[in-house]
Amino acid sequence: MSTAVPALRVEIVADPDAVARRVADLIAAVVGQRPTAVLGLPTGSTPLPTYRELARRVADGALDLGGVRVVLCDEYVGLGPDDPRAYRATIRRDATRPLGIPDDHVLGPAGEAADLERAAGDFEAAIAALGGVDLQLVGIGRNGHVAFNEPGTPLDRRTHVATLSDATRADNARFFDAGGVPTRALTQGPATLAAARRLVLVATGDTKAPAVAAAVDGPVSSDCPAAIVQRHPDAWVVVDRHAGRLLGGAAGGDGRRTGAGTGGG
Ligand code: GLP
Repeated sequence: MSTAVPALRVEIVADPDAVARRVADLIAAVVGQRPTAVLGLPTGSTPLPTYRELARRVADGALDLGGVRVVLCDEYVGLGPDDPRAYRATIRRDATRPLGIPDDHVLGPAGEAADLERAAGDFEAAIAALGGVDLQLVGIGRNGHVAFNEPGTPLDRRTHVATLSDATRADNARFFDAGGVPTRALTQGPATLAAARRLVLVATGDTKAPAVAAAVDGPVSSDCPAAIVQRHPDAWVVVDRHAGRLLGGAAGGDGRRTGAGTGGG
């Protein structure tokens, strides 16, 4: 992390569609400046409206993402890249193919590797070889996890093998059958995520409100890995009014705490 003054911009908009439009604007701006930009993209249900909004813009000819490179946040241990439950398969299905991004532009951690420590190092090296991430989009778990960095993860950790909490496994159980959710994942660490030049956290819905408040207004500690947004020199938090309902009062003028959640973004 640099010595630049942290600049956290918090935008509370009306609903998930407004979040999607706002985040699509942020992504389009980065790609407009650099058509070969490196985007860090998460799985999860929260970013799906953003991916649909971007796909609409691509279909309309307003946006070309064909030169973009995509880096994933994380991957389940034990799932190969073509397992439909793997995040590398999920991101192709939900995001990159609809967005016209070639499969070979998508980089994810090798959760199937026999040597996971080595795979973690290889993933870090591959991100570095791309020149780092221009814009990293992240969701947030109900317990404040970001990527698969559970509470308790040191904020200076890089890509590593994480053991998933029961809460996280329960939240993700809907994607798995009787075999259950894997117990481990290979994940970018908080320090890897925070090394992106711009960090954008999205959240929607009432159940995320306590985690969003902890990330934005709570202490910066390993208790809430998503609080890395507070120390980042160029971070944005874009939430709907439900996820933002516990955030402190609005501030004006400098882009912080904008929106009352009723204006439609
Ligand atoms: C998983 C992913 C995270 C994601 C989180 C929230 O644990 N590893 O990257 O942010 O779920 O998912 P959702 O957006 O579905 O609430």
